[in-house]
Amino acid sequence: KKIIIINGPNLNLLGTREPEIYGNLSFTEFLEKLQEKYPKVEIDYYQSNVEGELINKLQEVGFSYDGIILNAAAYTHTSVGIADAVKAIKTPVVEVHISNTFGREAFRHTSYISPNAKGVILGFGLQSYELAVQSFVH
Ligand code: DQA
Repeated sequence: KKIIIINGPNLNLLGTREPEIYGNLSFTEFLEKLQEKYPKVEIDYYQSNVEGELINKLQEVGFSYDGIILNAAAYTHTSVGIADAVKAIKTPVVEVHISNTFGREAFRHTSYISPNAKGVILGFGLQSYELAVQSFVH
């Protein structure tokens, strides 16, 4: 199985950014462990702070990969473009968030992506990504 984790804006700062919310592990450290734990799954990774680049990547992988794990970060709550891309592609998208967005500011309670996601996993820290990987393994 071939899947990809796509992270949106500011998630390149994981480990240093608001550690009380997002933890102090960098994503690359976490990803290495995840890849070791699931050797039968090819887990690619892409991160961008740019909305259009995230859309380009979704289109690029969205007709050949078995699964996409998408944390669109702040764009979750704003981007019709990313939502349309999720709807346009064939590969199922699992939406993930590190924090429990429903326990935070009201503007984080809306997701443009959720209506077209296969499922949503949020609030489990970086483990949210592992749960999403498992959803594609089983
Ligand atoms: C986030 C939640 C978003 O509201 C926020 O803008 C992020 C990260 C999360 O993973 O908890 O950047 O997607």
